[in-house]
Amino acid sequence: MKKVTVVGAGAVGATCADVLAQKNFLDEVVLIDIKEGLAEGKALDIWESSAVNHFDTRVKGFTNDYSKTEGSDVVVITSGKPRSPGMSRDDLISTNAKIVKSVTDNIMAASPDAIIVIVSNPLDVMTYAAHMASGKPANKVFGQAGVLDTARYRAFLAEELNVSPMDIQALLMGGHGDTMVPLPRYTTVSGIPVTELISKEKLDAIVERTKKGGGEVVNLLGTSAWYAPGASAAQMVESIVQNQKHIFPCCVRLDGQWGLKDIYVGAPVKLGRNGVEEIIEIELNEEEMALLNTSAGHVRDVMNVYDKMNLS
Ligand code: 2OP
Repeated sequence: MKKVTVVGAGAVGATCADVLAQKNFLDEVVLIDIKEGLAEGKALDIWESSAVNHFDTRVKGFTNDYSKTEGSDVVVITSGKPRSPGMSRDDLISTNAKIVKSVTDNIMAASPDAIIVIVSNPLDVMTYAAHMASGKPANKVFGQAGVLDTARYRAFLAEELNVSPMDIQALLMGGHGDTMVPLPRYTTVSGIPVTELISKEKLDAIVERTKKGGGEVVNLLGTSAWYAPGASAAQMVESIVQNQKHIFPCCVRLDGQWGLKDIYVGAPVKLGRNGVEEIIEIELNEEEMALLNTSAGHVRDVMNVYDKMNLS
């Protein structure tokens, strides 16, 4: 029995559940929310698309009943408030930290062996919060951000180069904020270094657009994105449950890699049945290292704000 729970039936959680169902590799997806009827309604709507979208995965929704999440292999936490225009992800900490902590406690009671994937913002610090609350090893609690951020970067590059976004391989490190560090040196188009195909000016502009990619959508919609975030989380879940061992940039706790310790930032990792099976310590040049340190410093500041909240 392969079972995944998605906590939060808002737009990101429901999209993640829908994409997971359509991938058709799970027996059951449970959607759970505190708002009466929301998870039930969205789960029913997704399940009613099964005959049309060709999947057997049962999708079930429950209001706050964590007993129904028991035995989950992976739990995706999307709970919390999204951004409004003018807000940074960090502005969400006071509301979302308490929510993520209490959700993690509930998850641990029902599925103590589950791998936990965090999607709530501020992403890196919410991963820290869930890791602390769960008491699990760090390879079992990590965050989704790099898959989304590189998806945006790949989409922008594909548009500029008029190629398939699937041919673009890319890495990105650092926090899930405007200081994130896309890595053009580790970006290829079917093996061709991207720098051979695009001018420096255009590449720089795409890197800048990627860093502010979440904000671009917030400004258009008045709230945060959901299609790309939900699908990105689902792709991580698939690599874990199906033991695919994809290498994705994810938010993980570093333990001395790149000289950084006890901090949660994006880095390339191998995702399989045991969660983060390896952190791949790629070589960074001086400039990339400086950008990573700046981004990690920013995450550290927000971690300190979390620590002062005395929640765990
Ligand atoms: C984003 O970048 C919601 O943080 C998420 O769109």
